[in-house]
Amino acid sequence: EKGGYEHFMLKEIFEQPKSVHDTMRGRLLVDEGIIKMAGIWDHIEKFKNANRIIIIACGTSWHAGLIGEYLIEEYARIPVEVEYASEFRYRNPIITDKDVVIAISQSGETADTMAALKLAKEKGAFIYGICNVVDSSIARITDAGSYTHAGPEIGVASTKAFTAQLTILTLIAFKLGKHNGNLGNAEFMSLISELEAIPKKIEEVLNTTHELTQNIAKDFINATNFLYLGRGYNYPAALEGALKLKEISYIHAEGYPAAEMKHGPIALIDENMPIVIIAPKKGHYDKIVSNVQEIKARKGKVIAVVNKGDEQVSAMADYVIEIPVTSECFSPIVASVPLQLLAYYIAVYRGANVDQPRNLAKSVTVE
Ligand code: F6R
Repeated sequence: EKGGYEHFMLKEIFEQPKSVHDTMRGRLLVDEGIIKMAGIWDHIEKFKNANRIIIIACGTSWHAGLIGEYLIEEYARIPVEVEYASEFRYRNPIITDKDVVIAISQSGETADTMAALKLAKEKGAFIYGICNVVDSSIARITDAGSYTHAGPEIGVASTKAFTAQLTILTLIAFKLGKHNGNLGNAEFMSLISELEAIPKKIEEVLNTTHELTQNIAKDFINATNFLYLGRGYNYPAALEGALKLKEISYIHAEGYPAAEMKHGPIALIDENMPIVIIAPKKGHYDKIVSNVQEIKARKGKVIAVVNKGDEQVSAMADYVIEIPVTSECFSPIVASVPLQLLAYYIAVYRGANVDQPRNLAKSVTVE
């Protein structure tokens, strides 16, 4: 049932061209120029009149939520807050019936997310669910929602569910933006055509980085720390890259917005510190170039995720992972794939049980 792959995690990483496609199936209708999502459309007034959207989640799903914030604010211009469910539920949050709460959960069973939703519901907020497991507890208590349709995710470390969550959030942002007039028709059309081609780009990245990430992984099996840096849309992608590495390889890793480096983490950088930096051309590239210069001046080992044909960052980096060029908003989907592979191979070479990491459970049904 692992389909010839050594682990579920690797199988699920390789399923992403298909799972992202499945997430869009029946929703993204490029020829007709529309995004069809009944859960949004049936409640469009709620979204239109919302004072703000609050996204609630844990772990990887929370990282997807952060990217959702960038997407929804950029394209639909609705204010978004993203909260850890565990913090939200215990801090007496201000919630009104003008708030739309979006819960993101692969399993649909996460106890903290569930409890946070119950609280928001009591206060009269409209609750939207983005779940992978059909008919799960969270899916059942929401007022409406969209399933990610990524298929069962067996590996404890979330991979294809994450890229499916990003796909749904992208669809929601574009749909709301188109509807409320913040996203013009020409830009909408060009974005949705590009989105339709993302599965192909994921496929390409899998082909071009599978061997490369294995070779890079071999050089880092004895590392004790990693930093992951990115800016804009790729800041949450850096958080997610770091989470993947720590949960399956047990190497300590931290994700940071690249510019925050000089406010603390730079003190950690020496020749023993590997730094994964996500540096596509369309995301504050010049700023990232200076961040890489600062790292190299301190002899940090740079593993750079760059666009094909990149020159400036590539010339300074110790390892270069190329991904295809996309609009900035799609880059976390594509950039996450080699980071999943890198974490996977580092963990495998360290002899870790990647599908069932110690101390972790697939659904966290206790707080
Ligand atoms: C990370 C991971 C966890 C989950 C988190 C939320 O790989 O698997 O961080 O993302 O426990 O789980 P769901 O999405 O099921 O609510």
